[in-house]
This record gives sequence, structure tokens and C-alpha cells, in this order.
Amino acid sequence: MNTIMSDRVRKLVSATLIQPWTWPIITAPKVQLSTLSSEPVIASKKPFKVELVGGKRYSWCTCGHSKKQPFCDGTHKTKAQGLMPLRFIPEKDSKAWLCGCKYTANPPYCDGTHKQEFIQSALLPENTDS
Ligand code: FES
Repeated sequence: MNTIMSDRVRKLVSATLIQPWTWPIITAPKVQLSTLSSEPVIASKKPFKVELVGGKRYSWCTCGHSKKQPFCDGTHKTKAQGLMPLRFIPEKDSKAWLCGCKYTANPPYCDGTHKQEFIQSALLPENTDS
């Protein structure tokens, strides 16, 4: 049996035994490995009428997964990690129509987008209203 390593084997062994602290630091691009959606789901095909208190801070659900619609219940942390609630503070007490479809161009308020075909023909996730 030949005990002398060839140059090729010596290089291979050398590369295999390289110490981790001598490895060059490579910054890899951030890759999202999650299959969780960062797109909102349609919570409702109509807006929610709410009475807002002036000066109070609200968190409007942007992901559509909250069970406390139209407000955030923290579900985005597990079901839509790319989305965050929209925080807003109304200046005065008021009634408002907050978007339920999550596709308004004027969040958190309804702008009528829910009347469009892509909203009205969409299937809703389970446990939501129509
Ligand atoms: S409910 Fe979303 S735009 Fe009206």
C-alpha cells in the first residue's frame, strides 16, 4: 500500500481540514426560505364600520389573517412575516370605514377597491365573513 499522498490527495485533505476560523468571511445575499406569504389575504369583501377614538393608537391589519378584523392580533408574525400592521392615531373621535379586503390604495380606509372583480370573485380563507 502506498503511504505517500499524491499532490491531489494532499490538497483535498488540506482543504477538508481547514480550520473554520481561517475561512474567508463571505456575505451571502439574504434569502427568504420561508414559504409563508407576504401578500395579504382578503379578510372581507366589504369594509368594517368602526368608531375611532381621537388620540388612541390603532393597528390596522394589513395581512388579512387577524381574527380581530380590521385590527391586528399579531397573526402576521406566523402567517405573513413580510407584512406589518399599519399603526395610526385619529386626530378626533370619528366613525370610519376601514378596509377589509386589504387592497385599498388609501390604508387603513376603504377606497372602494373591494368592489373590483378580483376581490368579489376571490375565495375567502376559512372563518371569515363574506
Ligand atoms: S374593503 Fe378594501 S377597499 Fe373597501
